[in-house]
Amino acid sequence: MCGIVGYIGSRDATPIILSGLKRLEYRGYDSAGIAVLVNDRIEIRREAGKLSNLENLVNDAPMHGVTGIGHTRWATHGEPSARNAHPHLGMTGEVVVVHNGIVENFLELRQELSSEGAIFNSDTDTEVIAHLIERYLAAGTRLVQASRHAFTHLKGAHAIVVLSSREPDQIIAARIGNAGGVVVGLGRDEMFIASDLPAILEHTRHVVFLESSQIAVVTRQGLEVTTLDGKAVDYEIHNVSWDPVAAEKGEYRHFMEKEIHEQVRSLTDTIDGRVDFENGNGIRLPELNLTPELAKRIRKIFITACGTAAHAGMIGKILIEHIARLTVEVDIASEFRYRDPIIDRDTVVLAISQSGETADTLAAMEEARQKGAVLWSNVNAIGSQAMRLADGYISMQCGPEIGVASTKAYTAPLVDIYMLAILLGSLRGALDKSQRQRLIADLRRVPDLVGRCLNREAQVKKVARALANTQHCIYLGRGINMPTAYEGALKLKEISYIHAEGYPAGEMKHGPIALIDKEMPVIAIAPQDPWYEKMLSQIEQAKARGGIVIAVATEGDERISAIADHVLWVPETPWLLSPVTTVIPLQMLAYHIAALRGLDVDQPRNLAKSVTVE
Ligand code: G6P
Repeated sequence: MCGIVGYIGSRDATPIILSGLKRLEYRGYDSAGIAVLVNDRIEIRREAGKLSNLENLVNDAPMHGVTGIGHTRWATHGEPSARNAHPHLGMTGEVVVVHNGIVENFLELRQELSSEGAIFNSDTDTEVIAHLIERYLAAGTRLVQASRHAFTHLKGAHAIVVLSSREPDQIIAARIGNAGGVVVGLGRDEMFIASDLPAILEHTRHVVFLESSQIAVVTRQGLEVTTLDGKAVDYEIHNVSWDPVAAEKGEYRHFMEKEIHEQVRSLTDTIDGRVDFENGNGIRLPELNLTPELAKRIRKIFITACGTAAHAGMIGKILIEHIARLTVEVDIASEFRYRDPIIDRDTVVLAISQSGETADTLAAMEEARQKGAVLWSNVNAIGSQAMRLADGYISMQCGPEIGVASTKAYTAPLVDIYMLAILLGSLRGALDKSQRQRLIADLRRVPDLVGRCLNREAQVKKVARALANTQHCIYLGRGINMPTAYEGALKLKEISYIHAEGYPAGEMKHGPIALIDKEMPVIAIAPQDPWYEKMLSQIEQAKARGGIVIAVATEGDERISAIADHVLWVPETPWLLSPVTTVIPLQMLAYHIAALRGLDVDQPRNLAKSVTVE
């Protein structure tokens, strides 16, 4: 979703901001803009569509200055167009803002400001912020104070960056609620501001994350952080170890392809240092702050998440219930706070999120906090809000994930929660030593098993060619691989725009079977797990109705190869870990179908990597 970049220093701001915005393209956007202070006057360029359009505009009409802000917009209020793209000016031309989030009361504010004489030049909610700041500047207030006053009028959650020609030696940045992050990068005689780390990591590794309700005054030499009501804040400087090269495509055509192939490494890193293989004694998840006392006290866990992370949560439920014998409910985060869940201090709410900034997931966490639950998160983005809000966290070891369709940040939580289940099971006395040792020994095989799935890419490509022109697809799975069916279907629809449905295989006869004919490929996830025989009979039923069956099956399974039209082979995997291998051919299948159809795999239409609005 929307991305923000700001720069103040002594270098030419325009290329720095444009290259930062480029690194945020993966978040999804439909227009972009940049404002630079040129001889103490604000100059703006904005354009609809891809960043290259904005770059062309800037090349035709260059602007040079040492202070500026930029934005990639994902439309919420008003169509994607140059006039609705950020930055937005007020009336005087002295204040310009970029903004992530939604001003929930913007209609009231717009009416109020219009009655005071403001004229609006866009359909956006953001523009009211610039007018509000001007209202207070007109009364002679300093920029930071005027911004503070303005922000108190805004309902909703926001990340806002303000530049003014009245006080050209500073940029104001604020985070209000949970509309995505604001990070300030500290350089030598220069400072960077961004909504996400990848935008600034090529310049500095020393960063400060703003917390909710904080406002920063960023100058060339310094950073001052206060709360919205003016109290000074002692901020912490984080040193980020992410390698910016990790965010480059390298030899791959798309980030998604690269990220699929990175899973051997990400899963090795996920396990590394957290597991005692030698003695099979245990799992170390120190950041979770899980004491034996807490482990025994927990009566229920809610897992809450959105999209791919929610599918990982569904598998997490089966893992924790089976291994630790503890009740788990899974809630789509956007629904959680609207159903008044029954929560007390013996309840844990575990949020799963790649970005750690998904508005619905953060809102679910807030709901849980208010109701007194213990809050955990399983998050990839270092320093993100979901990591900081939680009482304890498990950090996914994926490195930056750029492709909008999540892949490595799907398999990492499967393994993270498997480890969590072992830890909980051990502390609660649900697992004896030999069970624990066997589960841990199985874990050790995961990276190798995933590598063996990846080695079968040529076979997946063949199936992709057979399916490239299909219009619809149905994915069936059962037991622990039922959510794999959801995830396989989600991957396909996200990037190939083929209508795909994931279904619990046992439900096929209650409706979807009516759809099956020779035009409807059925992708059946049927590894040798406890539900194998049942899946086999689903495949027979689909074949009996003329369906084309593509089975995901265990290497050497002749019963499946005798009935399926195509087979995507996975190595024999312990059933609790089988979702980690069965999803790999499905990720590759979706990727190759979309690539064959010539689509924008990394930035599919209408989607955003990090959804920071409700
Ligand atoms: C967006 C992305 C999905 C992702 C979901 C949750 O919809 O396009 O790929 O699964 O958000 O994101 P999170 O960052 O919370 O895991």
